[in-house]
Amino acid sequence: MPIVIVVGAQWGDEGKGKLVDVLTERADFVARYQGGHNAGHTVVIKDEKFVLHLIPSGVLHKNTVCVIGNGVVVEPRALLEEMEGLRRKGIGISDNLRISRSAHLIMPYHLALDLANEQALGKKCIGTTGRGIGPTYIDKMARCGIRVGDLLNPGLFREKLALNVKKINLLMKNLYQSRGFSAGRIFDEYMEYGGKLRKHIADTDVILNEAAAAGKNILLEGAQGTLLDIDHGTYPYVTSSNAVAGGACTGVGMGPTRISRVLGIVKAYTTRVGSGPFPTEILDAVGEDIRARGGEFGATTGRPRRCGWLDTVVLRHAVMINGLSGVAMTKLDILDGLKKIKICTAYKHGGKTYHHFPKDIEVLEKCTPVYEEMDGWTASTLGIRQFSKLPLKARAYIRRIEELIGVRADFISTGRKRDELITIRKQF
Ligand code: IMP
Repeated sequence: MPIVIVVGAQWGDEGKGKLVDVLTERADFVARYQGGHNAGHTVVIKDEKFVLHLIPSGVLHKNTVCVIGNGVVVEPRALLEEMEGLRRKGIGISDNLRISRSAHLIMPYHLALDLANEQALGKKCIGTTGRGIGPTYIDKMARCGIRVGDLLNPGLFREKLALNVKKINLLMKNLYQSRGFSAGRIFDEYMEYGGKLRKHIADTDVILNEAAAAGKNILLEGAQGTLLDIDHGTYPYVTSSNAVAGGACTGVGMGPTRISRVLGIVKAYTTRVGSGPFPTEILDAVGEDIRARGGEFGATTGRPRRCGWLDTVVLRHAVMINGLSGVAMTKLDILDGLKKIKICTAYKHGGKTYHHFPKDIEVLEKCTPVYEEMDGWTASTLGIRQFSKLPLKARAYIRRIEELIGVRADFISTGRKRDELITIRKQF
């Protein structure tokens, strides 16, 4: 009966996919609430690796209905390819996938605009995934976006497309000296996608609220993370949607009074892809070592992730903004064997100590982290399934983090596989 939000507490890539997959065992519905195919969730089942971008990782469970909520932006070709990839691996996609009629479509010109914007920014670029996410949300807010439901209304789709292409072509030609787009070609392509997706398109807000009223277990899955949120992240180096827990309500159409729990996913250290401030980034061999051990390369773009120490200023911000009821710590095993482990407890800048996450990007760029150093542990934590079996110093690390952020760990992930997990408090 609970409704649980799963949200990234750092800059994304915290390992939400694994936790969502595990929690889905008891969930009747899993719904994505924002972002698009910029996300990449990796799940390993019996040594087989699944990388999901748009479809919630819940799809790997037979009896769970997966929902792509209205807050998501959908690139239909990428979605169809993902569905096909899953089918090839024996995962059936039929009534178990529902796509909101109100979700916005990523169009070919959004991709071109994303790349052109980044190029124009030069050194100041955001480091986007180049998937057209930002321009699609711009059109949504500018009230000229084309929605998934429009695929089922060719007349309206053609009308909206013609207006958009006229405007985009002017922009592409004059600002970026680039060739324009053919509305006719896009129309034909998207109508074909519409035909293939038709049976999945639905009023997902009604489906989810009826399920909640019927006492079903529902998981609301965020993509990216708190620090990439458009309002509460390191603006402008963020994604273009509300990745925080509040975004779950608007992104699927459920009221806040329905939510039972908010689980924050926290990597045992910190990573970030793309540009922007990262106070605890490790720029020496230790950072490289963590990247190599943790396989810290983007699941969507393959870019090497920047690595750093755990930052509890970031985490306290995540606890506050999301109202976290608990956290799941992932990738603890990656820290095995490190002699010393640092935890950032505050920032210093201009004679001032910051315990709350600063909003000023210049402070974030120039601040010095205040560290506490703890002893590492030598024994392997890989695959441990009971808290009491963890090395003493690993337990001390977790307990200290809980103390610093004021929230308990509900789960600790000790490996990539489903069962490499310590469960302290079940969510359903
Ligand atoms: P966009 O979402 O492609 O516009 O990219 C904006 C910023 O968010 C860039 O710094 C990306 O690297 C970052 N980003 C987007 N999606 C993810 C993700 O799934 N994991 C981590 N970073 C992401």
